[in-house]
Amino acid sequence: MELETKRLILSPWNESEAELMYQYAKDPAIGPIAGWPAHQSAEESLQIIRLFNTKDELYAIRMKPDGIPIGTIQLKLAGDSDLVSAADECELGYWLGKPYWGQGIMPEAAQELLRHAFEDCGMSRVWCGHYEGNLKSRRVMEKCGMHFRWKSEGVDVPLMHEKRDGYVFCIEKEEWESQKTK
Ligand SMILES: CC(C)(COP(=O)(O)OP(=O)(O)OC[C@H]1O[C@@H](n2cnc3c(N)ncnc32)[C@H](O)[C@@H]1OP(=O)(O)O)[C@@H](O)C(=O)NCCC(=O)NCCS
Repeated sequence: MELETKRLILSPWNESEAELMYQYAKDPAIGPIAGWPAHQSAEESLQIIRLFNTKDELYAIRMKPDGIPIGTIQLKLAGDSDLVSAADECELGYWLGKPYWGQGIMPEAAQELLRHAFEDCGMSRVWCGHYEGNLKSRRVMEKCGMHFRWKSEGVDVPLMHEKRDGYVFCIEKEEWESQKTK
């Protein structure tokens, strides 16, 4: 599956791109705030790409025109997300290489994934969450028209072996449709 926006192509990671993933995923500014440890080696990134490729709806974010991967975005389906309890719901997750922050790239990718979720995948609600202090991610959700639902205190962050407060956002299909026409 391949999706496209003005500046981006969204398509699966290739195993040959482990080194490219590692150069961003080793940055401690990226994974830990999202709930996963910085990668320690390109070999670890390769294992993650192999895991990613077992998932439906997980995409490398690629810049046009060369298609170099700069981040990841996914719809976590039922079974892969604590927020999701129905087959027509999913959770948006994402990260972007630091050199590319601040250009509206993730809002552009996320808007396309919301379109895909509602129009192609038959979803009726998309969730997204961020941990305490991750205002950058909160801005992405706001820019995509998602609204704050609740704060969860002391949520387990299994890969980081700790608990944090989490902020849960969502958008429903009707809401997304009405925003689209505005
Ligand atoms: C969250 C993230 C995906 C945002 O992507 P992005 O494409 O930079 O998004 P935007 O360009 O819309 O910027 C979002 C906000 O980040 C902040 N920001 C932008 N560039 C920044 C930079 N270079 N340094 C620090 N903060 C920056 C700004 O507050 C911006 O909001 P504004 O546009 O209202 O000023 C990216 O910062 C990231 O990958 N962070 C680490 C992983 C992560 O947090 N994932 C989400 C887990 S819930």
